[in-house]
Amino acid sequence: MTLFAVLFTSCNQAQKTEISSNEIKITDTYMGTSIIHNYDKKIDSIMDQMTLEEKTGMLHGTSMFTTAGVNRLGVPELKMADGPLGVREEISRDSWAPLGVDNDYATYYPAGAGLSATWNTKLAYVFGNSVGEESRARDKDVLLSPAINIIRTPLGGRTYEYFTEDPFLNKKLAVPFIVGLQDNDVAACVKHYAANNQETHRDYVDVQIDERTLREIYLPAFKAAVTEAKAYSMMGAYNKFRGEYMCENSDMLNDVLREEWGFEGIVISDWAAVHTSVKSLKSGLDIEMGTPKPFNEFFMADPLMDSLKAGKISESEINKHVKRILQLMYTIKSMGNEDRKKGSIDTEAHFKDAYNIASESVVLLKNDKNVLPINLSEVKTIAVIGANATKKNALGGFGAGVKTKREVTPLEGLQNRLPETIKINYAEGYQERYAPKKKAIFGEVTQARAESINELDSEMLEQAIQAAKISDVTIIFAGSNRDFETEASDRPDLKLPFGQEELIDKVLAVNPNTIVVMIAGAPFDINSIKEKSSALVWSWFNGSEGGNALADVLLGTVNPSGKLPWTMPKSIHDSPAHATNSFPGGETVSYDEGLLVGYRWFDTKNIEPLFPFGYGLSYTTFDIKNVHADKKEAYLENETIYISVDVENTGNIDGKEVVQLYTSKKDSNVERASQELKGFEKVLVNAGETVTINIVVPVQELAYYHVDLKKWVVEPGIYNVGIGNSSRNIKANVSINIK
Ligand code: BGC
Repeated sequence: MTLFAVLFTSCNQAQKTEISSNEIKITDTYMGTSIIHNYDKKIDSIMDQMTLEEKTGMLHGTSMFTTAGVNRLGVPELKMADGPLGVREEISRDSWAPLGVDNDYATYYPAGAGLSATWNTKLAYVFGNSVGEESRARDKDVLLSPAINIIRTPLGGRTYEYFTEDPFLNKKLAVPFIVGLQDNDVAACVKHYAANNQETHRDYVDVQIDERTLREIYLPAFKAAVTEAKAYSMMGAYNKFRGEYMCENSDMLNDVLREEWGFEGIVISDWAAVHTSVKSLKSGLDIEMGTPKPFNEFFMADPLMDSLKAGKISESEINKHVKRILQLMYTIKSMGNEDRKKGSIDTEAHFKDAYNIASESVVLLKNDKNVLPINLSEVKTIAVIGANATKKNALGGFGAGVKTKREVTPLEGLQNRLPETIKINYAEGYQERYAPKKKAIFGEVTQARAESINELDSEMLEQAIQAAKISDVTIIFAGSNRDFETEASDRPDLKLPFGQEELIDKVLAVNPNTIVVMIAGAPFDINSIKEKSSALVWSWFNGSEGGNALADVLLGTVNPSGKLPWTMPKSIHDSPAHATNSFPGGETVSYDEGLLVGYRWFDTKNIEPLFPFGYGLSYTTFDIKNVHADKKEAYLENETIYISVDVENTGNIDGKEVVQLYTSKKDSNVERASQELKGFEKVLVNAGETVTINIVVPVQELAYYHVDLKKWVVEPGIYNVGIGNSSRNIKANVSINIK
């Protein structure tokens, strides 16, 4: 007999404990709270008293980040802020210039790729909840976050900001993030819906994706954001999709988002992504936001009033959108509700949240001679080389940053953590330099990128070589930064900028005890660095505490447990969008690789990546064994598969391992990638101990999207379940049968 106990905790997280005769199975799921509909009468009475101008004022930006309120009726402005790295600094009401106040400091959280490298859903909740508290402390109603588009190409300008190339990992992180955020009486604005996977021509490119790929790769996280997390708002993307701009794409907004998924919140446009009044509104857009121009000229302002007067749109259509906005405002308690959460900002608790995320995100890529963790008993001097040792990334580049009082750089992290007896020999080595950039046209949302200058300064190179020569250990902090990887432009190739490769080569030649630490949000060509260095670490634009977390990993106080959330290719030509010559397109871009995005392509086509999806080492070793499914008989479509796995820590220090579950189906009637991630679990295992975990896979997760039937179909038959600690290190397989 099976007994269910469902325990609800305050964080909208239902922990389901299923007790069966011989084992205990626990799974965490996160559920959001729906839009509240109890206020219909009040809303109707407010709307009865509103003028048409007051109504349309709520449908468009009347400052850079607010829409109009109706003071006399107790309706406040709707206040928004970016974004994915934390609550953005205050911007002027009518330009992008910072407001220049001193009460807008915030915690800088790790960028999206850093969070996803933790593979830790609880940390996704922590992140959302923490930044939600900060949003409230800054009196925001809507946080323009999370950014969850699929990483289609390593060159994408926002790869650092997005989560991953995999739809399953994407949704598993997006849902708790949104729930955590919205638990604070603030709305998430999930972006960028949809198919905004490149910056090149993002303001007009027409994206063509076949229906199955759309459903299986590009939409799952957006869908889960609605159906599970109950996201209160979505951001309509810049690009076109199948011929229509996303903000006037009725198929995607009215049909898919609202009709199919049951979205009850509001659709807010990306900044200057609206092109029409009547068509946009009728297609499902609720609010138009934008970059500076007189706010009355917005499509949802005077032009909408003109359309109304000309009879091209009815007042009842306008009422529908205003009502949705008011429903959201009641839900987040912004209509003068005393109980609304007040939040907190810039606190030690939040810096600790940022630290916890950062410290689980660092990926150990190579550690051949156990150079890491640095053994301080054998070291008196450490050379620290590279501009990234001191580079700050909270602000910079095109797009949202955070004004913060704390951003611990890698050098500061080491200084904080190393005993005074150890001498640091710092040399910058390379400089971040750019050729003069083509002047951007004001308000442009796609821009020419800055070209890096790649020659080293010979004197600086010499100083770096000398520092390495006289030090016991050398750490090079290389990679990129948020000026180089940036919104509004994609990178032309995978090359490391600023002459770093030459610098790393020359330093490695004089000190074999050299650790290379890459700080970047997206893949780079590190083929030769991988070959020549014996210790290679990957870190991210990693928030206020990034430097401390990194130092703790290098010194062994933290055992690394991050795993790559994307595939690192050997060559850009191996990556699917490039191998199919379908990036960046021109007026149109066709995603010709179809379903085979990321590792799905590499695995199906048998292409060796430089580092595979899901890869990351630890200072200890794990054995993954005794893998078995909870049933021998066939599973039915509505059942759940529990895969039990023993994880043994075979080393002598405690560590966390991410156990990954990939399914595949031979002889399928439909095209499939050779394997797909369908489950994972991060688990702490103490040295010498074994922990048994259950990975939970609802049979529905195995479904494919049947284009003709327009529904998800579970194909019966035998599936292989591969369990491993990266997509290319499957340690055990079990077969399961689906009826
Ligand atoms: C970006 C959005 C951002 C908005 C407001 C746009 O350029 O695409 O992600 O939220 O600007 O800053």
